[in-house]
Amino acid sequence: MLAAMTPKISPDGNAGIAARGASVLLQNYRPQPIALVRGQGCRVEDADGNRYLDLMGGIATAVLGHCHPKLVRALEDQAKRLWHVSNLFTTEPQIALAERIVRHSFADRVFFCNSGAEANEAALKLARRWHRDRGDDRFEIVAFEGGFHGRTLFTVSATGTPAYWKGFEPLVPGIRHAPYGDLAATEALLGDATAAILVEPLQGEGGVRPAPDGFLRGLRELADANGCLLLFDEVQTGIGRTGTLFAYEQSGVAPDVMTLAKALGGGIPIGAMCASERVAGALVPGTHASTFGGNPLACACACAVLDVLIEDGVLEHGRRMGAFLGEQLGKLAARLGDAVVETRGAGLLRAVELREPAAGVVDRCREQGVLVITAGERVVRLAPPLIVEQSELEEGLAVLEKAIAAG
Ligand SMILES: Cc1ncc(COP(=O)(O)O)c(C=O)c1O
Repeated sequence: MLAAMTPKISPDGNAGIAARGASVLLQNYRPQPIALVRGQGCRVEDADGNRYLDLMGGIATAVLGHCHPKLVRALEDQAKRLWHVSNLFTTEPQIALAERIVRHSFADRVFFCNSGAEANEAALKLARRWHRDRGDDRFEIVAFEGGFHGRTLFTVSATGTPAYWKGFEPLVPGIRHAPYGDLAATEALLGDATAAILVEPLQGEGGVRPAPDGFLRGLRELADANGCLLLFDEVQTGIGRTGTLFAYEQSGVAPDVMTLAKALGGGIPIGAMCASERVAGALVPGTHASTFGGNPLACACACAVLDVLIEDGVLEHGRRMGAFLGEQLGKLAARLGDAVVETRGAGLLRAVELREPAAGVVDRCREQGVLVITAGERVVRLAPPLIVEQSELEEGLAVLEKAIAAG
């Protein structure tokens, strides 16, 4: 463990806090045995005063690290002005955020919600409704094996890994899954009832698997030929994670709808469904809503996230760090030989697929002061904040290499 750098801020310590949680929280998570109490930049500290290098960024969420001064200021300024009044009134922060998303993407209109699942739920509902408004009762969704889209019933039904939905059946009907990357198999599932194709440009939870070259373009062509909509789930890949502001930019095609969450708020809960003008009109007043959607605090913070990424050069810095990380992981894999199956990913969303289960590597990294996560049983995932420095990546990779070698 790293030496304690600052005094403890919780009298209970890691074990005491975990024990309290075990008695009152629903036991649907299996948290690591540390309670994090504060963070700054790419470092976080636990309740025993141990410090860690955070190379997982709150599962690809803390895109500007922890307590970035400009995000703290944006939140403080908004906190002194207006917190919440609902969508029965117009509030400016959500308009300012939508303006930024529209300026920097294919989208013409944005709906705000609170999470990735809700953003995808809205996208799926929009797809059905859009067809319905054309006198057409298309309702089927074609999604992909290994995909992950959230935990609401519609989104978990669209999720292409049975472990996420086993025991919750009956699922939402009409969802079909093709192997990720297989255009011929996708085409075979499309028909007169298809409302939309839903796909991640790079599968995050499914093991950090980038779409094969030409796959997204092929899906665009299939969707156009069939007459269904194309929905890109950029909840994990969006907001600079793969080297461009949105991953779809690297494919040369745009979807009809893109969903965002995770990094959009830099750690504040917010989701967004971003649609082209052609399809956005499907959701007229009364068809869809969210009490907290467009909340001024969340939107003010998300505006600051985009401003720092774009105007302060963090997006460009993250792209450089992503290229460095990819290169270094390749060398690490070569040195480790048989223990590593492959390294893959894009930008600052990268993975090492191991021959053995990855949980032990995650534990050994944490014990040496570095936080990483899995993405499937044998995959170690790295999703550091975009502000990460080369020296921090070097420090983390040295720990990761030893942790894999010790397996
Ligand atoms: C691609 C993708 N879509 C949707 C979700 C669900 O997001 P949330 O947990 O915010 O509902 C996730 C979460 O990991 C995700 O990675």
